[in-house]
Amino acid sequence: MLPSELVKYKKKSQKIIALTAWDSISGSLAEQSGADIVLVGDSLAMVCLGYKSTLPVTLENMIYHTNAVSRGFSKEIEEQSLLVCDMPFLTYQCGENKAVEYAGKIIKNTYAKAVKVEGADPEVQNVISRLIRMGIPVMGHLGLTPQSYLNLGFKQQGNNSESHEKIKRDALSLEKLGCFSIVLEHIPELLAKEIQTELEIPTIGIGAGKFCDGQVRVTADLLGLNDKQPPFCRPIIDGKKLFGEKLKEWVAAEKLS
Ligand code: KIV
Repeated sequence: MLPSELVKYKKKSQKIIALTAWDSISGSLAEQSGADIVLVGDSLAMVCLGYKSTLPVTLENMIYHTNAVSRGFSKEIEEQSLLVCDMPFLTYQCGENKAVEYAGKIIKNTYAKAVKVEGADPEVQNVISRLIRMGIPVMGHLGLTPQSYLNLGFKQQGNNSESHEKIKRDALSLEKLGCFSIVLEHIPELLAKEIQTELEIPTIGIGAGKFCDGQVRVTADLLGLNDKQPPFCRPIIDGKKLFGEKLKEWVAAEKLS
């Protein structure tokens, strides 16, 4: 699927599902689940590389992991989920030329068909506009933007009138700039609903309620593989406990055998 095809889902009120992946196993699981989008999110810094935030992950890490994810895909290219790669911290905040160079590296060296960038500050808007003009599709990301956690924390955004209006304004700006969709993370459900109604491009929510055009989840959170879950992502299984117990049982049995 091409990024530009996603808008058809919204027109047909067809829900969009996105899952993150970080290696070939999670890539295969995400693709086989039928997810429309597989996002190689910079959350892989935490769920796969053991960092405490997304800030340390590098462009090389993202390219390496995006290639691992696509090696896990088994469908023909036209049937594959749309592969999107996050631009990591400080690859698009240091000027347009660098951003084009780094996004270009992602597109040239992986099978990703789009990049995702966080926020909509004036510098980021200039970068988004330039990337899109250069032929690189961009997914936006508003609300809780983990790359800004040192300023904004890991808490819900858009819960006072100033922040509510800013997120709405930013969403409209991202659509105008040509983003093909926007992730809305950890914002009040009614704000997400207002944005979903006003925009023609799809909104994909995580911790943003049920009115978004789609939902995205960090697969490791959904499978309960982490010690700490974000409050807005309820796991569907307690994967860490389940797999941990099974491995313990196997090790104990092997030691006795
Ligand atoms: O990095 C990531 O996994 C993300 C999702 C939370 C949308 O950006």
